[in-house]
Amino acid sequence: MCGIVAYIGKQAAYPVILKGLKRLEYRGYDSSGIALFGETVNTFKKKGRVAELEAWDEEIISTATVGIGHTRWATHGEPSDANAHPHTSNSGRLTLVHNGIIENYGSLKQELVQKGYTFKSETDTEVLVNFIEDIQINNNSSLEEAMRIALKRVVGAYVIIVMEEGFPNRLIAARKGSPLVIGVGEGEHFLASDASPIIEYTKKVIYVNDYELAIISPDEIILKNLGNEPITPYIQQLDMELAQIEKGGFDHFMLKEIFDQPGSLTDCLRGRLDMENLTLTLAGVEEHMSVFSQAKRIIIVACGTSWHAGLVAEYMIETLCRIPVEVEYASEFRYRNPVVGEGDVLIAISQSGETADTLVAIEKAKEAGAFIFGVVNAVGSSIARLSHSGAYTHAGPEIGVASTKAFTAQLTVLAMMAIKIGREKKTITEAEYNRYLAELALIPEKVKAVLETHESIKEVAKHYADARDFLFLGRGYNFPVALEGALKLKEISYIHAEGYPAAEMKHGPIALVDENLPVLFIATKDAYYEKIVSNIQEIKARKGMVIAVISEGDTQIRGMADHVMVVPEVDELLAPLISVIPTQILSYYIGVLRGLDVDKPRNLAKSVTVE
Ligand code: G6P
Repeated sequence: MCGIVAYIGKQAAYPVILKGLKRLEYRGYDSSGIALFGETVNTFKKKGRVAELEAWDEEIISTATVGIGHTRWATHGEPSDANAHPHTSNSGRLTLVHNGIIENYGSLKQELVQKGYTFKSETDTEVLVNFIEDIQINNNSSLEEAMRIALKRVVGAYVIIVMEEGFPNRLIAARKGSPLVIGVGEGEHFLASDASPIIEYTKKVIYVNDYELAIISPDEIILKNLGNEPITPYIQQLDMELAQIEKGGFDHFMLKEIFDQPGSLTDCLRGRLDMENLTLTLAGVEEHMSVFSQAKRIIIVACGTSWHAGLVAEYMIETLCRIPVEVEYASEFRYRNPVVGEGDVLIAISQSGETADTLVAIEKAKEAGAFIFGVVNAVGSSIARLSHSGAYTHAGPEIGVASTKAFTAQLTVLAMMAIKIGREKKTITEAEYNRYLAELALIPEKVKAVLETHESIKEVAKHYADARDFLFLGRGYNFPVALEGALKLKEISYIHAEGYPAAEMKHGPIALVDENLPVLFIATKDAYYEKIVSNIQEIKARKGMVIAVISEGDTQIRGMADHVMVVPEVDELLAPLISVIPTQILSYYIGVLRGLDVDKPRNLAKSVTVE
């Protein structure tokens, strides 16, 4: 949540920061602001989207070569001009942007108020900038020293970037818990919450670690820890192209990302699945195979869509590897004193690799002695670095707030893991192993076949765009798909939607069924097919409207449902990879038909870096 961008160097800072903030809008988009260094520091901030900052027409925007910017997802205080970042200290010396939450801001604020400080906003950030200033004044210390002292007293998560009057050639940044990337150019440096604002200028980046301070001038980056000891920066090469973070002719990132899936899944399988030699290579699993094969149990932690991928993985791993699996919301796991320790494997699933709750859940399990395996999309992200081992999903950057291609890539990695471990444990036969590999190899083509039906799914969307509620039902491997379908619809269209195991509907949701309730069944051909047919009858008997995701050639459900969305047949282990696609497309079109901004749904953020 919240995106920050900063620039220091030789070109005009404003266009770099403005463009960067637009790229980071997925992290929050209720207000934004930029501060630039001219003779003094000038700040412009506005409620609303980043585009509002284009109204800043002062001369400084073409001359200043140093600046900081922020796009906000409100935590403390409603979206407003006053609560937007950057925030300035009482004396006007310090100007700061912040991503994260200062949990003890209340007590710090009280201290400052007693000393006579006043506040223009309701934010924790304005408290932090004044807290740093107060230390600087009292100790007569440099900004760097004051930040070190302040950050030792601060509880919470942050990335901050600070500008100081009188020091026009220097920015100081610090991080704990929220992400920060520094792009290294020639005589210029770029700072951002992720690499997307940086990629068109340089591919050389440094990922700043927790409890590190970066002192940045146009020609130099000095990294130190909070104990003032220097750290040698590790410069990495970005593996990302500009085209990957642009819409490429699609109306929305979400649609582009849905259509990316044959390619992103091919990338996910590349170098791993070898059909000539019938091998699956997953280095992160192989290097620790004994940990997996001897695991007493596997705990999966994640949030949102990634949690749904975890639920599918539970079915996959228990079936193929006969290892007990628990799937936990990271936010619950971290606070409920879980029984976890040596012999446990914890799989953390995260697209961004920065979700605050997932990060802390990992830290807890790691401290307790569990082995941590990250299934992460964002290369070099915090979760990737905190894990003992892992497998990247290689879905490429996902910009639309609703996760689509990241989900299917997660499922692919998790399926590969289950197949690989199952073979090692001999809990699947060689014939099964070979069949699963053959099925995996066909997935990108089958996804493509579903995408080709998108016009007919758009027609289905037209019938249901005005619905008030929706029920999604599925069984077995398709139960988590029902949850994911419901989540996608409510995120994008603001239609109330619930996902349920189809059999469970008799214990409550069936009371909602009448002629106005669309019920979407994930009803592909699998072991539960006949049961699902009965459930559809039960809905029809109560006049509910039935939409069904069915397998090619299924005439039985086609004859019962009001509308169908057809997908190729696939082994049930991999069914979610295919059956989720029509639900993504349906949600997309319903959101568009309702005139909504599907890439940036209200109140949501792509990367939830606060708990
Ligand atoms: C937010 C996003 C979701 C995502 C979830 C978990 O809610 O809007 O799309 O599934 O966070 O994020 P992660 O990056 O950890 O997968």
